[in-house]
Amino acid sequence: MACHAVDRRMVGPSFRDIAQRYAGNARAPELLAGKIIRGGSGVWGPIPMPPSPQVNEAEARRLAVWILATR
Ligand code: HEM
Repeated sequence: MACHAVDRRMVGPSFRDIAQRYAGNARAPELLAGKIIRGGSGVWGPIPMPPSPQVNEAEARRLAVWILATR
């Protein structure tokens, strides 16, 4: 809640910007699900995203698919 919003950048990119960047990328659900669980860095700027190991693969994939539908 403190890091992402659908339509504006906060600590991290907006979900809409993420959806636009990965539009047409068939591997985006898997790619982003992995980032959600393991964290990520270097794609949107200098601030890294911490890992969320409490999120399982199925949950991460559902979150990724939902994010990708916000554009
Ligand atoms: C389970 C909760 C979260 C979800 C579903 C989520 C989702 C995402 C996604 C899909 C990306 C794009 C990754 C990429 O393009 O490589 C991203 C990036 C990012 N997120 Fe999150 N995020 C979560 C939690 C957080 C938290 C807690 C923070 C802040 C402490 C955060 C900060 C960031 C930042 C800074 C980036 C950009 C990283 C980069 O430049 O590669 N996120 N997030």
